Amino acid sequence: MSTTVTEVTSELSTLRLRGETAPAPESIPVKVEEEYRYAHLLPYFSDTKYPPLEPYEHVDPGFRALKLENQRAFLDGASSVTEITPNLGTEVRGVSLAALDANGRDQLALEVARRGLVVFRDQQDFIDSGPEFYLGWGRHFGRLHVHPTSGHPKGYPEFHLVYRDAKSTFNFEVDESITSTIWHSDVSYELQPPSLTTFFLLSSPESGGDTLFTSQVSALKKLSPTFVAFLKTLKAVHSGVEQADFSRAGRRGGIVRRDPVENIHPVVRRHPVTGEEALYVNKQFTRRIVGLKREESDTILRFLYDHIDKSADNQARVKWAPNTVVLWDNRITAHSATVDFKERDARRHGARITPQGERPVPALEGLDLSP
Ligand SMILES: [Fe+2]
Repeated sequence: MSTTVTEVTSELSTLRLRGETAPAPESIPVKVEEEYRYAHLLPYFSDTKYPPLEPYEHVDPGFRALKLENQRAFLDGASSVTEITPNLGTEVRGVSLAALDANGRDQLALEVARRGLVVFRDQQDFIDSGPEFYLGWGRHFGRLHVHPTSGHPKGYPEFHLVYRDAKSTFNFEVDESITSTIWHSDVSYELQPPSLTTFFLLSSPESGGDTLFTSQVSALKKLSPTFVAFLKTLKAVHSGVEQADFSRAGRRGGIVRRDPVENIHPVVRRHPVTGEEALYVNKQFTRRIVGLKREESDTILRFLYDHIDKSADNQARVKWAPNTVVLWDNRITAHSATVDFKERDARRHGARITPQGERPVPALEGLDLSP
């Protein structure tokens, strides 16, 4: 195998640009081997500026599935459907995601809402279907979120990429911490954070790089009714400022394409389709509880983060294998990367397709979400 290297910028120069009014002037060069099968999906950091996101009406596809007689018909042909844990996660074999029609995709959304996490093995057709297919796939579930700072395939800002190899890293900057475990719900600072998220790895180390998940529904259920009743009256600020500052400091690609935002969300939210209540704070983006003194807010958040961190009984761990596609409901789960493969000369390259969901619905009806 040749070890000739080239720059992604030139490697990708023949790709059709779509949705960018002006050519992106700069990109971060990434050294790659020419033969890499998914070179067209390597991270590209255009400095195209985006306007603020506009509110939009999200219609959850799970509602459509609720009207069906057989709400799990898409699993009829599965060779196995296995629970990962009793309350979080299902692993499926023998179902081709790429072949699901609109009805099947609606059922899938409902199943992910109910299980929090669904792992599909043997999905090479899906992964190899390419970015135009990914667009259609994701848009079935809602308006696709465009990440303000991360790398995306050139011409396709709708896909967030994670990437690490022996020379480059664009998501796992964890050297200043004793752990890479950072529980979070993706971009929860948006007014309408993601709902059903699809994620897959194009390349992964032989072992390691597992993704951790936890059920925020289960986390809430562990708390006493009196405390939950209090939490339901609270709302918290979620902020994208630190993430933007991180990029502005020259790390992770060094690009901020949309000004960071802060939004207020309920501390306990209700899933619009299942009606389930879930804790909705995360260490990465939640900053303070509105209306409490700083020490009160810090103490409650620290307690909740500690609870999320150490409750292994709420968690599930996805071990990646080639051609695995994972879907989770970002509204009722949190997740974390695991960076335990830094010493290996291995590439970990993943793509995320995520629509924006509804503005989080407070579990306490009528909770005022103004500042
Ligand atoms: Fe994430």
